Parts: sequence; structure tokens; C-alpha cells
Amino acid sequence: MTSSFYFYTMNKQPIGIFDSGVGGTSIWKEIHSLLPNEDTIYLADSKNAPYGHKTQDEIQLLSVKNTEKLIDLGSKIIVVACNTATTNAIDYLRKKYSIPFIGIEPAIKPAALKTKTKQIGILATKGTLQSSLFTKTSELYANQINVIEVIGEGLVPIVENNLVNNPETLKLLQKFLEPMIEANIDYLVLGCSHYPYLIPQIKKLLPENVVIIDSGRAVARQTKAVLESNNLLNDIIKKPNCKFFTNSNSTALSALLKDYENTISISYLSF
Ligand code: DGL
Repeated sequence: MTSSFYFYTMNKQPIGIFDSGVGGTSIWKEIHSLLPNEDTIYLADSKNAPYGHKTQDEIQLLSVKNTEKLIDLGSKIIVVACNTATTNAIDYLRKKYSIPFIGIEPAIKPAALKTKTKQIGILATKGTLQSSLFTKTSELYANQINVIEVIGEGLVPIVENNLVNNPETLKLLQKFLEPMIEANIDYLVLGCSHYPYLIPQIKKLLPENVVIIDSGRAVARQTKAVLESNNLLNDIIKKPNCKFFTNSNSTALSALLKDYENTISISYLSF
């Protein structure tokens, strides 16, 4: 097979995306908006969510399982749409497989560059905040800044179980955000792909001047750049085939993707 034939066929293959559950759909929405011709396959590993309290070895094993399924399904690139899996497993995945990987990490750099109060908040899972990759990034970009790190204990199950509008959610968020508000943060970094779905609630609690940032758009731009540099962009203008697979029930997935119901399919898959 010549390399041009390889690229000719490979660029029509789907973008593979995985997350510990439904949160990575926030990343899929950015990718689909930036690359509307691309076919996508999304794996929601909700059966094993949350990843945030698992050991690094466990997260690596789950990431390998998801990667192998996405490769079997014909992916041309893999987006790890989970901060916890990226910070604990992406180096391992890149060493093990030749397929390109895109990861998502908390956007601590732009927050540290833009803050005026020199106080930024970061809400993420235990697995992300305790990872060596996050520690390195934080030391590199935020060493002159006070970073208030808070583990969003219990927030992933809230999004997984479609309980975002429950009054208890607001109370829990208030507990997490209080120390940040007291410290006068002007940037809040959402370090988990589930958390963008909590932004309406978070906005009710934060002072208006606080800017909330997540990495979804940056991940989509990076996906496009890496596809371009590998000649893997799909150049055909057509209605894309966007498949979502979950290994648990699909209630939350359907709710989060209801605006896309005419463009996507959601099915159960054992993986
Ligand atoms: N969406 C995952 C992340 O970005 C959630 C992790 C978890 O399952 O705890 O970190």
C-alpha cells in the first residue's frame, strides 16, 4: 500500500473520542462545530465512571481498553476527552500506539497569564490535581500566582445521572466555590470535561467579574491542526456520521445531545 493510498483512505475515517462518561460530549460539540464534515465515534465509559478516584494504573488500563476499541472501530486519531485520563495516561498511550492522540488539560496557562488579582481557582478531579503532569504545568505557568485547587468531589456523578438542576447541586458547588470567592479569584478554570454542563449553576454563585474557562475549544483547534499536519482532514463536504456508544444506560447522553438528535446515533456497546 502506498502512503498516498493510505492517506486517501485514512482521511475518511472517523475521529475517535473517549471519556469516562458523558462529559466529553462538551468536547465533541466543539469538535463537531469546528470540523462539521468529520465522522466521529464517541465512547462513554460510564460503567467505569468516575475515573477521578482511581489509581494511575487503573486509569491507564481503562484508557488502553477505550483506545483499542476506537482503533478497532477505525479511528484515524484519538481525542482523550477527559482531563483525568489525559493527565494520568496520555504519555503511556503515546508510547504504546502510533495513532495521533489529542489530550485535554486544565487551562491553567491562559488563566495565569490573564489574572489581575493573581488568584485563580481550579476545579478538577482528585486524579487530575494529583497527577505529575498537572503539577508540572502548574509549576511552569502559575508559580507567581496563588492557585486555589478544589476537588469537585461528587460532580461527575451529578452530570452522569442528569441531576444538574437538582437544588443539592447548587449547595455542593457553593461549598467548592466559597474558598475561591473569599480569595478574590478573577478566573475559574474548569479542569474536567463534565463541568461545562454546570456553568449555568456556577454562574449563579460567582461574582460577575469572574471569567470561567475550559479547554474544549482549544482541544478542537488542536485536533484540526494535528489532522491537517498529518494529511488526515476529511475534505469531502457531506452530512457526517456521528456515532455515540455507551456501556451503561443512555439517559444522560441523550439529554446532553438532544439538540443533535437528527445528526447522531446513540447505542449500547459492551467495551
Ligand atoms: N470527564 C472526566 C475529566 O475530564 C471526568 C473524570 C472522572 O470520571 O472522574 O476528568
